[in-house]
Amino acid sequence: MSTDFLPFALPCIGDEEINEVVDTLRSGWLTSGPKTRQFELEFAEFIGTSHALALSSCTAGLHLGLEAVGVKAGDKVITSPYTFTASAEVVRYLGADPVFVDICPDTFNLDPKQLAHALENTPNVSAIIPVHIAGQSCDMDAIMALARQYGVKVVEDAAHALPTAYKGKNIGTFGDVTAYSFYVTKPVATGEGGMVVTANEEYAEHMRTMRLHGINRDIFKREGSTLPSWYYEVVAPGYKYNMNDIAAALGIHQLRKAHSLQARREAIALQYDAAFTDLPLQRPFRDSNSSHAWHLYMIQLNLDELNITRDEFIERMKAAGIGTSVHFIPLHIQPYWRDRYGFQPTDFPVALHTFERVVSLPIYPSMTDDDVARVIAATRQILQEAAGQ
Ligand SMILES: Cc1ncc(COP(=O)(O)O)c(C=O)c1O
Repeated sequence: MSTDFLPFALPCIGDEEINEVVDTLRSGWLTSGPKTRQFELEFAEFIGTSHALALSSCTAGLHLGLEAVGVKAGDKVITSPYTFTASAEVVRYLGADPVFVDICPDTFNLDPKQLAHALENTPNVSAIIPVHIAGQSCDMDAIMALARQYGVKVVEDAAHALPTAYKGKNIGTFGDVTAYSFYVTKPVATGEGGMVVTANEEYAEHMRTMRLHGINRDIFKREGSTLPSWYYEVVAPGYKYNMNDIAAALGIHQLRKAHSLQARREAIALQYDAAFTDLPLQRPFRDSNSSHAWHLYMIQLNLDELNITRDEFIERMKAAGIGTSVHFIPLHIQPYWRDRYGFQPTDFPVALHTFERVVSLPIYPSMTDDDVARVIAATRQILQEAAGQ
């Protein structure tokens, strides 16, 4: 068995990706071009929606999505405090304010009951950002029903959720707009990158224009256009959010492998589940309504039964040569969010309780069976000792 350090996450890049990148480099077309277009077409088809726009990040997609659905300064946008700061910072980009709603203790996703309460009691809510933590779908039936009832838009943060399905349909076919991340640790990785999808032509057109400096490309599409090739029109103060063809070359092949990569992640999750049944920890939630992307395998330690803290567990795993991580430090205890909105740690008790005991274990397709066995053996040994077993 290897004694090398096992990193927490690694991308899974094969010869197909490498050859496509080399092809791009030789083509001379390094910025957004034919590979980006191909990636977008294949992505829209993969999800089962009409428009996919390749971007520099998921954060860019969330920003464009909120703007497209009409979120404006002074609005409120509901999201979870149990997420990465990108999910909420985009609300501030538009001069709006996030309203945090606590999570379900099993899924770590927005609690529909508390969401209903927040919608009933908060004026000026224009959108909800559900975050599919770890690749586990939110309760989309409940969220979409509430969104319709209160007339608010839904911009999904699917940074972890590729591929994730809810009741047989891919995430990306429920909300008004959905954004994905291809950051290096994500299930489909291009180093940095993102995609935003929508079935709404008007939102797509807005995001297409805004992702590239507010340049209206329609003028080039007109039949029989006599405009010279150097000519363009700026119709808004847009952003620089386009994807480049080198990233798209990676994305095309990562997407084609998305289901097989997910199958390997799922197999590792099943092995962990089986090996941890008798340990003082809570295993990840499994929902018969949805398929899980397994971006993260998050366990919660039963601290009451252990003589070590969560942080000590992480240190012992590191000493055993295994990288782990913590997802997430809740936003309401982060200095910016805490100070701006005057939050107390106990304002979102489920998010806080989860954070104090959660650990993410390595789960990625290039892990060998030996790697998986090492993680299991170390976890078992550390927790059994700490439980005095
Ligand atoms: C839940 C969540 N949303 C959004 C993002 C932002 O993704 P990106 O780095 O592609 O902007 C991340 C990144 O880790 C994330 O975990």
